[in-house]
Amino acid sequence: MSRLTLKIVSSTLFSIDISGKTDTLGQSLRTALEYAYYRMNNPLALPVWMPTPRNLKFHQAKQTLDRLVLEIIQSRRQNSTEKNDLLSMLLAAQDEETGEKMSDRQLQDEVITLINAGYETTATALAWTWYLIGTHPDVMVKIQEEIQTVLNGNNPTVEKLSQLQYTRCVFDESSRLCPIGLGLPRVALEDDEIKGYFIPKGTIFNIAQYFIFRHPEFWDHPEQFDPDRFLPEKVKQRPKFAFFPFGAGQHICIGKNLALMESITILAAIMDRFHIELVPHQSIEIDPRFSLRPKYGIKVRVRKRY
Ligand code: HEM
Repeated sequence: MSRLTLKIVSSTLFSIDISGKTDTLGQSLRTALEYAYYRMNNPLALPVWMPTPRNLKFHQAKQTLDRLVLEIIQSRRQNSTEKNDLLSMLLAAQDEETGEKMSDRQLQDEVITLINAGYETTATALAWTWYLIGTHPDVMVKIQEEIQTVLNGNNPTVEKLSQLQYTRCVFDESSRLCPIGLGLPRVALEDDEIKGYFIPKGTIFNIAQYFIFRHPEFWDHPEQFDPDRFLPEKVKQRPKFAFFPFGAGQHICIGKNLALMESITILAAIMDRFHIELVPHQSIEIDPRFSLRPKYGIKVRVRKRY
């Protein structure tokens, strides 16, 4: 799933084909993130310039990322053909006051942010969805029936995606039980009080999706995997902010629609052609770092349907 979503995000946002580089890019991104996580949790860590094995590994990953992304930017600068994608918009963007364009360094940072925010998240959400489908064969049958009715052997198209209602319910229910984030950090703009707790202005707090998405006040049998709870009539009965896997407010995920579109397409395309089955006796654990990834991945057996 990581390779697939990395390819999708690179081709949709930047019109580049990174087949062949996905493993290097993915591995370097992961090393850099692991390093950031380590530093966040170890305030006494040795400075980044010291040549410790961990620091050297990070510098190597960063160099690889910088090189790959700079190649993308420079090849676009040299190639005059107009592309209607995000990279062209970033290249054309100008500061409203000074008229200045972005430097290569700024562009590199934007591209890395978008690739990173856009691939691991979707890959993780899909991995958990396969896990839940693999442990609920009845759900797999229902998805396959819906796909047969809606697509009738054709490839999924944007127009057809909204008709794959049950498939979307499955994805939402998976995002409820296995949200990719531990929570959303926010800062209190004013003094406030929540359920008797005083929150002074300036407090940094975490809106923990994992717990809200399993709160018995909003969800019956919250631990159960039940995609039907996302049918429109059921959604209407819940407060809007009982479920917000893409965040909310000014910083809501900018990739929400892309992520939903690609996830439902991937689920439909694979379920149409294959049965999946979890490999037994594997160790499935959450890696609670930046995204709640399955620590050792999710291994499934894939069997052709026809
Ligand atoms: C299933 C897939 C995804 C999930 C669950 C997800 C979830 C989130 C969440 C929870 C946030 C924080 C929102 C907040 O603080 O209110 C966020 C922010 C963000 N996401 Fe996603 N995301 C996904 C896919 C994507 C994709 C495909 C892209 C890029 C194309 C993307 C780009 C971003 C960016 C740039 C931000 C920062 C927005 C800001 O701070 O203004 N995400 N995402």
